[in-house]
Amino acid sequence: MLNSTQFRAEFPSLADTVHLASCSQGALSARLAYSLQEIGYSLRDKGAPWDVWMAEVEWARERFARLIKAAPGEIAVLSCASEAAFQVASSLDWSHRPGIVTNDLEFPSIAHVWLAQAGRGAQVRVAADTGENVEAGAYERVVDENVNLVSVPLITYRNGARLPVPDVVRLAHEHGARVFVDAYQGTGVVPVDVRELGCDYLASGSLKYLLGLPGIAFLYVRDGLEHQRDPELTGWFGRVNPFAFDTRLLDFPGDARRFETGTPPVPSAYAANAGFDLIERVDPQAVQDHVSELVEELAERLAAAGERVASPAGARGPQVAIVDDDPNALAARLAARRIVTAPRGRLLRMSFHYYNDRSDVAAVADAIALCRKS
Ligand SMILES: Cc1ncc(COP(=O)(O)O)c(C=O)c1O
Repeated sequence: MLNSTQFRAEFPSLADTVHLASCSQGALSARLAYSLQEIGYSLRDKGAPWDVWMAEVEWARERFARLIKAAPGEIAVLSCASEAAFQVASSLDWSHRPGIVTNDLEFPSIAHVWLAQAGRGAQVRVAADTGENVEAGAYERVVDENVNLVSVPLITYRNGARLPVPDVVRLAHEHGARVFVDAYQGTGVVPVDVRELGCDYLASGSLKYLLGLPGIAFLYVRDGLEHQRDPELTGWFGRVNPFAFDTRLLDFPGDARRFETGTPPVPSAYAANAGFDLIERVDPQAVQDHVSELVEELAERLAAAGERVASPAGARGPQVAIVDDDPNALAARLAARRIVTAPRGRLLRMSFHYYNDRSDVAAVADAIALCRKS
């Protein structure tokens, strides 16, 4: 297992850059750079290497399954989390149970997929947030027997708050509703065990803390879950045998592959595997502990300097967000010092991975203090 110093050495790009934007895009590792060359070589060598490419996609599926303690047959390989949400929504029957529960800390594109179901008879209910987080009680007020799907992010993109997922799962299941967990802001730095979480669906993608690139996402669908309808978006990879090439046969596999569509995102699968090469060489608990120490240290330093920390104490994930009138301008000033952060709305987000260390905390805290003076 790599320790954090060895892990950092896998990212030569960090020699002159403080990367605090893993909540947006993970830092560039040497392996990720090589993986892009690898797909080039596969083309140069073989011309149309579909067998090699499909093996790469299957490998990414297996590795994501292992990461979240699922079976490969419980994973669909898709292109983005919105597509994953749509595949779930379009396979649910809203005629008897029309309710979908979401909240305002959800990533907008997931919430938009839920809102778009109104045209198919679904009714969206919003669990109220406190500005910084959503309490389990907010779900208690909106989940009842009319709800078919309850959606909850593991960690919100907005300020890195950890949501009360186990409580939400328990509540939803007591009322016969299914649970969709968007784990995009957690996988890679927070240990995820779908059996422990008990959720029915879970989505994530590769570009952030899983250290790959955009273009690939994974949808976990709990084995044994009854399919209320077939998904509306489909294609040859959603067939029992994608290579049957029968235009008159629309058969859906029993496992999560039924949610797949057309040609899988091959280049992004190479990138995802480069990320898994690194993620599989670290102890997930050690990663979480390391990240959490850095998060708490930065939150304390910034609060002591008079910054308004918007990530709730006691429920912080891998991110510290501060309130700012113009976070884009602040991010640009930090970027001029080669400190990469992630502004969104009124917040400047700084997120941590195992490759970050205390020198990064000091660098960004000092740079923000300097920016405030001038
Ligand atoms: C929590 C969360 N979900 C989903 C996404 C992305 O969704 P999609 O893959 O549909 O672009 C992001 C960020 O880009 C995110 O932070």
